Amino acid sequence: MSVLGLSLPFLNAQNLNLNLNLDLNLAREFLYVFSAVAFVLGIKLLGKQTSARQGNLLSAGGMLLAILATLLSTGLHFQWILLGLLIGTALGVVLALRVPMTGMPEMVALLNGLGGLASVLVALAETLIRPALGVLSSGAGYLSVLIGGITFSGSLIAWAKLSEKLSGKPLRFRGQGLINLLLFCLSLGLGLLYLALPSPPFALLLIAGGLALLLGVLAVLPIGGGDMPVVISLLNAFSGLAACAVGFVLLNKVLIVTGCLVGASGLILTQIMCKSMNRSLAQVLFGHFGASAAAAGATGPALHAHPLTGEEAFYLLESAETVMFIPGYGMAVAQAQHAVFELAELLNKRGTEVFYAVHPVAGRMPGHMNVLLAEANVPYEQLLELEEANTRLPRVDVCLVIGANDIVNPSAHSDPHSPIYGMPILDAEKAHNVIILKRSMGQGFAGIDNPLFFLNNSRMLFGDARESLQTLIREFKTC
Ligand code: TAP
Repeated sequence: MSVLGLSLPFLNAQNLNLNLNLDLNLAREFLYVFSAVAFVLGIKLLGKQTSARQGNLLSAGGMLLAILATLLSTGLHFQWILLGLLIGTALGVVLALRVPMTGMPEMVALLNGLGGLASVLVALAETLIRPALGVLSSGAGYLSVLIGGITFSGSLIAWAKLSEKLSGKPLRFRGQGLINLLLFCLSLGLGLLYLALPSPPFALLLIAGGLALLLGVLAVLPIGGGDMPVVISLLNAFSGLAACAVGFVLLNKVLIVTGCLVGASGLILTQIMCKSMNRSLAQVLFGHFGASAAAAGATGPALHAHPLTGEEAFYLLESAETVMFIPGYGMAVAQAQHAVFELAELLNKRGTEVFYAVHPVAGRMPGHMNVLLAEANVPYEQLLELEEANTRLPRVDVCLVIGANDIVNPSAHSDPHSPIYGMPILDAEKAHNVIILKRSMGQGFAGIDNPLFFLNNSRMLFGDARESLQTLIREFKTC
């Protein structure tokens, strides 16, 4: 009895411990399922401007849930987690507050790169701690190091090109393509060796990481700065795939699900961007667009554009019944979105019907114009997508092109030799009058001339877009 008397409480404590662990595991798995559902619904809500804010909040809530669920794991060193949380939160808040809207692509590039690096470090640490991983986890660990390494160094180059720390021109040397192919084959061969060996040396994983870093640099250097948003979207997909692979190493379901979501949405976005530019992914990755396009725009007949003054532009607008604004990259550069909205409101008050036409690849990142116009409080219902805008354009009295160039270039329809031939454009030339606000006759991203500027119904209002708009606003306010 005395033995039983001693052992019973001991057994109970053990059972309690076991039950507690089981309950915590169950709670964690449940929370993971909820957070995965929040991510899926969040992405769905992000698909529409009206629900995008809720989508963002829901996804952030899902992430909080996933973090809390992970904290329910046993054997954690909370002091390190707290330190990481504090440093990460402080950096995140400072960056989010400081980065301008035009700097978003660079910021996303950095975040992708850090995601890739995190996958590499977790896979390396896990292999060191548990060297006898099964084949599936070992293979996943190798892939995490490979894909994560490419994502990290490739994203850093993309960031450097976009922020002009490196030249935006394609940087190439002879045999670069062949070297990239060799590096890629070598990494795959090394992976097969890693899986075939009964106890592969850790050094193999480190070599794979080194090769991946080199491959990331050499693959992104030859791509022009203007194509970086597409590359960043692809690297975003890579960071998701690397995280998914790490999920298989850690056997963590929420990491597998979120990695797949990021990978799939990144690939879909890449495809949408390529389609809107009428180029294949292969052309973006291997076409060295910046170089050849500049050459394509170098020749052409000597045509004359028709400049007009702010006052003349005002008279055209004053008598218009319908006005369509077409914003482009120059509006982002000039930060002219608030002036655009102010002018539109003045026109609205006079009874003029006002619309904004948003091209899917206007600017330099997906949704660039939508974000800027939303920042200026432009009502969603006044935003028109490409097809709808094109059906309305023939009935528009004045079309105001604000710092846009390629997205209104009619050679996309008329010149089979043009690098943008086949790209869907906004048919600004079909409006009764077109006023183009830009600083010079300079080319846009594609580096080609724009016949729209020389048409009889087109007028050039030269100058910084914001200053030109402010001149027009002054005219309306004083008339
Ligand atoms: P662009 O064709 O690049 O033209 C922008 C124009 O803005 C330039 O011609 C420039 O002319 C003018 N500009 C610059 N600063 C200005 C300022 N302060 N005030 C007034 N005008 C200014 O832009 P877009 O029409 O928006 O077309 C986007 C291009 O980027 C497309 O070729 C697209 O394929 C490409 N792209 C887009 C994305 C995404 S996802 N959006 C990604 C990669 C590539 P001046 O110098 O004469 O002023």
